[in-house]
Amino acid sequence: MKFLEIMQVSKHFSHPTKGRIEVLDKVSLEMRRNEFITIIGHSGCGKSTLLNMVAGLDAPSSGAVCFKEREIARPGPERAVVFQNHSLLPWRTVLANVMLAVDAVFPAIPKGERLAKAEHWLGVVGLKEQLHKYPHEISGGQKQRTGLARALAMGPELMLFDEPFGALDELTRSQLQDESLRLHGDEHLSVFMVTHSVDEAIYMSDRVVMMNNGPNATIGRIVDIDFPRPRERLKVFESELFAHYRNECIRFLFSRRHGAQAAAGLLSEATVEPVPGVPAPA
Ligand SMILES: Nc1ncnc2c1ncn2[C@@H]1O[C@H](COP(=O)(O)OP(=O)(O)O)[C@@H](O)[C@H]1O
Ligand SMILES: [Mg+2]
Repeated sequence: MKFLEIMQVSKHFSHPTKGRIEVLDKVSLEMRRNEFITIIGHSGCGKSTLLNMVAGLDAPSSGAVCFKEREIARPGPERAVVFQNHSLLPWRTVLANVMLAVDAVFPAIPKGERLAKAEHWLGVVGLKEQLHKYPHEISGGQKQRTGLARALAMGPELMLFDEPFGALDELTRSQLQDESLRLHGDEHLSVFMVTHSVDEAIYMSDRVVMMNNGPNATIGRIVDIDFPRPRERLKVFESELFAHYRNECIRFLFSRRHGAQAAAGLLSEATVEPVPGVPAPA
């Protein structure tokens, strides 16, 4: 069975003053179960718009998004989202925030089991000691962990990450990246992530999907990332292959920002070393 299919999806918005904004133009992409895909592209190109349609928070103007061969019409717990701004309710504790999702998704199971579920996932993301704290009493990283636990507690098959680590300091960010990678392995998750960070995309993904700038954005290029899993941060970041992937992505993004001529100029100054066994970028 096909897992996620984005089929010829176009999307426009009607803006009160700017008129019609053509965001995406016939975007097609398939994702396998257990895959980790990252969407990267310049700000405003339509990454969140695409993710929102997979989440069922918005609908394509034309084309379709199918999850397990059924057209997505609305949000569902099998497709849980983690946003950059954790969106926790400030008047509820960490546990109560997660319980909100658990209660909504599993109304039929006894209260004690629901509580155990919420506590379990908060434990998995390292918040055992913070259950009864309020959002203002915990750090930004802990808030994102709460958001992660809330998403995991819904028992999703597909995790949708919209720049979930974007607002965190570098150290917290790498910790959460590694924990998400561990969860991807241990819980057999499939992850569809949007990020601004080339390094994050390469380190975490099986495929980096790079989008052209909008309006009418399309997928410009997809890079397959061949590091074995589980991934070891230092090994990956220090490898020649990582530098090669990084060059490829940056070359693409730079060319989209400044035009192909500028990219050619950049590349005559920066040399891209060939990597044995890896085809040279086109
Ligand atoms: N609800 C909306 N109404 C009107 N325009 C929108 C809406 N959502 C997004 N847009 C516009 O669509 C474009 C893509 O936005 P978005 O998907 O958020 O970009 P990204 O996540 O890549 O930065 C932007 O020009 C944005 O202003
Ligand atoms: Mg966005």
